[in-house]
Amino acid sequence: MTFDTLLFAIENNTAIITINRPDKLNALNKNVFDDLDKAVDAVNENPEIHSALITGAGSKAFVAGADITEFGSLSIVEARQLSERGQQVFFKIENSPKPFVAAVNGFALGGGCELAMSCHFRIASENAKFGQPEVNLGLIPGYGGTQRLVQLIGKGKAMELLMSAHMIDAAEAKQLGLVNYVTTADTLLEHTKKILDIINSKAPLAVAGCIKTANAVFDETKDGYALEIEEFGNTFVTDDMKEGTAAFLEKRKAVFTGK
Ligand code: COA
Repeated sequence: MTFDTLLFAIENNTAIITINRPDKLNALNKNVFDDLDKAVDAVNENPEIHSALITGAGSKAFVAGADITEFGSLSIVEARQLSERGQQVFFKIENSPKPFVAAVNGFALGGGCELAMSCHFRIASENAKFGQPEVNLGLIPGYGGTQRLVQLIGKGKAMELLMSAHMIDAAEAKQLGLVNYVTTADTLLEHTKKILDIINSKAPLAVAGCIKTANAVFDETKDGYALEIEEFGNTFVTDDMKEGTAAFLEKRKAVFTGK
């Protein structure tokens, strides 16, 4: 698959999606959102792909935010549409049945931090920096940042970061639970791919069930415990459940088919 603003490759059943505007620190313009939207569909529709890794091109930035040059003189309606479009694409990532992991290789600011937070978890290189600097521009985050930052690091710290535009480094992001691991810049992709290789070896429908039920914690329209009962039952009648339990009893490695 080819895109104007993304690189898209498949390695060991993982889609490697690289936001590719390094001269603009991978800022998210309309084209990036259109390409990301299609790339997520491509991941979801391709049975060869079990998971996806999102990173940024170059050594400096994951994504330095929404493309500020597109803010121009948007009307209130257009600004709301911009926010809605960003939220829509990031919801698609968050609700994908396949794991999306952000490999954060530098600045993850504004929309970049929001993109990383829409992924199922995050791994950062030592030079990564996170922040929601929108108040510097007289704005608030528009792509889910006010919600997901609170979900991930708690209200008090999130409020401070949102209101102060303070940037945090990778070590603090790990301490706050925003990222799971911090690696050197050289080993970031390798480390992330290794984790995804492990997840790729598990039963895909069970992995999808984990995503769906864990996401329900933050969805007021859903009863997460009821959904867990439903999904638990669904996994019980899959071929992969039969294979997984048989393999355990026969002391061999399970071979899952995603059925
Ligand atoms: N939108 C559009 N262009 C951006 C951008 C953004 N969010 N972030 C960086 N760029 C562009 C710069 O304008 C510059 O382009 P130019 O070379 O054509 O002038 C290029 O990327 C390199 O950025 P620069 O600012 O020169 O790099 P730096 O190392 O001095 O600073 C940052 C890095 C990340 C601190 C700085 O670019 C920055 O503050 N970016 C905006 C962050 C932000 O507010 N994001 C939230 C947006 S809602």
